[in-house]
Amino acid sequence: MLKKVTTADATETFLNESVGETYHSQTGAVEEALKKYAVPCKIAEKAKSGHIRILDICSGLGYNSAMAIDVALKTNPDCVIEVVGLEYDTEIIAKIQDVNPPITFFTHYKKLTPEITELKEGNVTVTFIIGDARKTITELQENHFDAVFFDPFSPKTAPHMWETLFFKDVHRVMKESGIMATYSCARIARDNMSKAGLFYDDGPIVGRRGPGTIATKWI
Ligand SMILES: C[S@@+](CC[C@H](N)C(=O)[O-])C[C@H]1O[C@@H](n2cnc3c(N)ncnc32)[C@H](O)[C@@H]1O
Repeated sequence: MLKKVTTADATETFLNESVGETYHSQTGAVEEALKKYAVPCKIAEKAKSGHIRILDICSGLGYNSAMAIDVALKTNPDCVIEVVGLEYDTEIIAKIQDVNPPITFFTHYKKLTPEITELKEGNVTVTFIIGDARKTITELQENHFDAVFFDPFSPKTAPHMWETLFFKDVHRVMKESGIMATYSCARIARDNMSKAGLFYDDGPIVGRRGPGTIATKWI
């Protein structure tokens, strides 16, 4: 059961009542997309190269990648951008039609539905792969993504999503220069990133006491 809620930056998300968590931080859904994902993954800087590939794990409504597209295009309107979203719940994908966040590219995300999972707009392509991300990630090319947004439900609620095996696949698909960002600083999440060969550091503190986490293949 999904219930629409308004977060502290006046942007909307949903509460998943069976999970007992919202899809975004209640301190600001769109703020989180910008400050916990696009900024720490250095999307603006990477867009200057003219080509950027983003993996949006647990893409849900797609706020994180849609925001990253805005940031990349603002820096370099000619940037070629490839987004792959991994999401297993078609109910949340259908809810893209019910929200209007202040993210310019999100108007194009409205073309995405449980049935239509690809869009192309100018130099931007977005592909949502529907299925368990722990399986669908294994089908992705290695050494491919510049940025990975890692946004499952919390380690407490969904510990299976924060296991070493999954982080090993994140490591495999990230470019040597790639950056992964997540909102959580949970000990177990960071330990499992380390076991997968990733090096972690604090991400930004946004709207709550703890920092997020960023992880790379090299220190
Ligand atoms: C915190 S929400 C992410 C919100 C999303 N980033 C957005 O901008 O709307 C967690 C998401 O993980 C998805 N999810 C949970 N387990 C999954 C799995 N095994 N494979 C793929 N997606 C999963 C949920 O359906 C939900 O959309």
